[in-house]
Amino acid sequence: MTKILKIRNESDFEKIRIAASVIKKGGLVAFPTETVYGLGANALDVNAVKRIFEVKKRPLDNPIIVHIANKMEIYQLSRDVPSYAKKLIKKFWPGPLTLVLKKAEIVPKITCANLDTIAIRMPDNKIALTLIKEAGVPIAAPSANLAGKPSPTSAQHVIQDLYGKIDIIIDGGPTRIGIESTVINLTASPPVLLRPGGITFEQLRKFLPKLGIHPSIKGEFLKEHAISPGMKYRHYAPSAEMVVIEGEHRNVRRKINELVQIYKKKKKRIGIITTSEFSYDADVIKFIGKTPASIAKNLFRTLREMDDEKVDLIIAEGVKEDGLGLAIMNRLRKASSFNVINV
Ligand code: TXA
Ligand code: MG
Repeated sequence: MTKILKIRNESDFEKIRIAASVIKKGGLVAFPTETVYGLGANALDVNAVKRIFEVKKRPLDNPIIVHIANKMEIYQLSRDVPSYAKKLIKKFWPGPLTLVLKKAEIVPKITCANLDTIAIRMPDNKIALTLIKEAGVPIAAPSANLAGKPSPTSAQHVIQDLYGKIDIIIDGGPTRIGIESTVINLTASPPVLLRPGGITFEQLRKFLPKLGIHPSIKGEFLKEHAISPGMKYRHYAPSAEMVVIEGEHRNVRRKINELVQIYKKKKKRIGIITTSEFSYDADVIKFIGKTPASIAKNLFRTLREMDDEKVDLIIAEGVKEDGLGLAIMNRLRKASSFNVINV
């Protein structure tokens, strides 16, 4: 049985308390963050974390982010916090930035998938922060979707994937940012961006001038590069086949029109994800916003909606790769299994 708790804000204290007591007892609670919904358990409880992997059908070699409510908790979870990490924390926490650091002894191996490192973040969401505080333990939480599915940006998405499999789903409304946190590896020298997200590369570069970009982010999918285990799995994927068209806007439109004609002849049901309000001759057209912030917010919901529409092929327009665009393009490429056409 899964209990759904509708919570408007952090003053709905009684309900958050119920959820916190479930975490303390080793249960699983899905909760909103500013990025996407997380599936939380006590990060220090081996059996609770094991259940996260089971219900998500997550491969055991993909480590989980640990969420804290107080910046100082980082010293409990990591044995080495470099001085530049402190600057990042001061500037970006609470917020969508995850730091990979050397792990401390008290964190069980399963949480970090047997690595010597741990990913930590402090979410910028009052419900999440209150839940962590009340539980009194750090909360391990991957995105609350079945492995491989688009990340959940509303409680409804969590219900679709996990209802009946977990103890509580907190419904705190749609999430503000819509794509996951930025992950950077501070144990590498120089530090490396492992996953672009809510905090942009440009923002981070001001603090870490030498920050590198992991090659897999843009789709150079070499095995030896897959140091963040999350990188090697198919991700965010809708059931339909998907293709991303990147390039200058006019060329993108022309290419999409061409593909639409080809697939129509094959009697395929076609869905198009557009950022331009340009109309196409397709079965389903979803406008996902013009600004990078609105595109990020609508992206995962739109991928799920395309599945509901039972399209055979999703064609997505690419966006410019600066700012949040880097994270948006990373998710689109992954959703399409790197089925990308440059025009
Ligand atoms: O915004 C977010 O980060 C959301 C919310 C719920 O906080 N969480 C999230 O978790 O997206 P998940 O599990 O879906 O993605 C975590 C990513 C994975 O790519 C994983 O491989 C990477 O972080 N990661 C976790 N621990 C790591 C470590 N020790 N070293 C390298 N990468 C790590
Ligand atoms: Mg995920």
